[in-house]
Amino acid sequence: MPNEMSRRRFLRQSFAFSALAGLGSLPSFGDLKHGGLGDGGSHLLMVGDWGYENFEAQSRVAKAMQGYVKGRGFTTEALFMLGDNWYGPLPGGVKDKRWQVQFEEMYPKSVFDCPAYAIPGNHDYQRMPESKVAAELEYAKLPGTRWTMPSLWYSFTFPAKKPLVTVIALDSNMPSDAGKWDRGTNFTLRPEQKAEQLAWLKAELEKPRTTPFVVVMGHHPIFSNGPHGDHKILIRDWAPLLREHKVHLYLAGHDHDMQHLEFEGHPTSFVLSGGGGAGLYNLKIAQAQRGPMAEKVYGFSELVVAPEMLTVRHLDEQGRLIHAFTKKPDGSVGIVG
Ligand SMILES: [Fe+2]
Ligand SMILES: [Zn+2]
Repeated sequence: MPNEMSRRRFLRQSFAFSALAGLGSLPSFGDLKHGGLGDGGSHLLMVGDWGYENFEAQSRVAKAMQGYVKGRGFTTEALFMLGDNWYGPLPGGVKDKRWQVQFEEMYPKSVFDCPAYAIPGNHDYQRMPESKVAAELEYAKLPGTRWTMPSLWYSFTFPAKKPLVTVIALDSNMPSDAGKWDRGTNFTLRPEQKAEQLAWLKAELEKPRTTPFVVVMGHHPIFSNGPHGDHKILIRDWAPLLREHKVHLYLAGHDHDMQHLEFEGHPTSFVLSGGGGAGLYNLKIAQAQRGPMAEKVYGFSELVVAPEMLTVRHLDEQGRLIHAFTKKPDGSVGIVG
């Protein structure tokens, strides 16, 4: 099990990645930075932990997202909103002005004319005064809205024309094993929903694959070098399914930093993009111990989808490339920046 992997193995793994990056057969950081590899495909941007009450940092990251798209001259075919969409009160529910200020104007349709696929985070489940998850499901029903959250868990394919990725969007807000889902004003899935979702996830993964890639996303990371750490329930319930079905990427937020973790023998690359605007956290595990990448930094991420390869990039609040890797249909990973 990856969580039982010794520190020595992590270190060895980190060295293996450094060696890989130095081989020279891989595209260089520079190639990616200057628009080489990975640009001939469909682009989407993702951002986690963004709807903070003090939206100074959110604003900087959102501007960087806009600048990145405009500067590189591509069209974004989707946004992935990785949860903790609303911190603090949302008293007006679906009509609250925060929707305009912190969603519609931060990530404007003029730049991101595409669906914004959203998943619920723990802060979305806080009752302030009513469940913000209910408001998010409602907002998705407004005519013409880009906000896409048809249910708490759902799947879709990307891009819309000639799909290459099956995306499974999950609700990672797990009740305790004792079945407790109501912690005062902080709610989670109910135990029966948790079981229903798990059965659905298994069924989705068992369906005949129609795309070369499959990506799973949930707000809570399964493995994280940040303060929330590794998630016992998700390691038990979800990680074996990702392994069995050779899921290419698991996308998460929740820890307010940016990460990319690889585990020896695990086919899935674990991507964390939690730098969308909420106050940053100190990392608990350095990237030299477990990586290849974990950084306390604001930012967002890009996924470029082409038939032969996925490219994931982490960008900072100025749109500068801080990490990039590629993933092939066979699961092989290339660290390129
Ligand atoms: Fe968060
Ligand atoms: Zn969270």
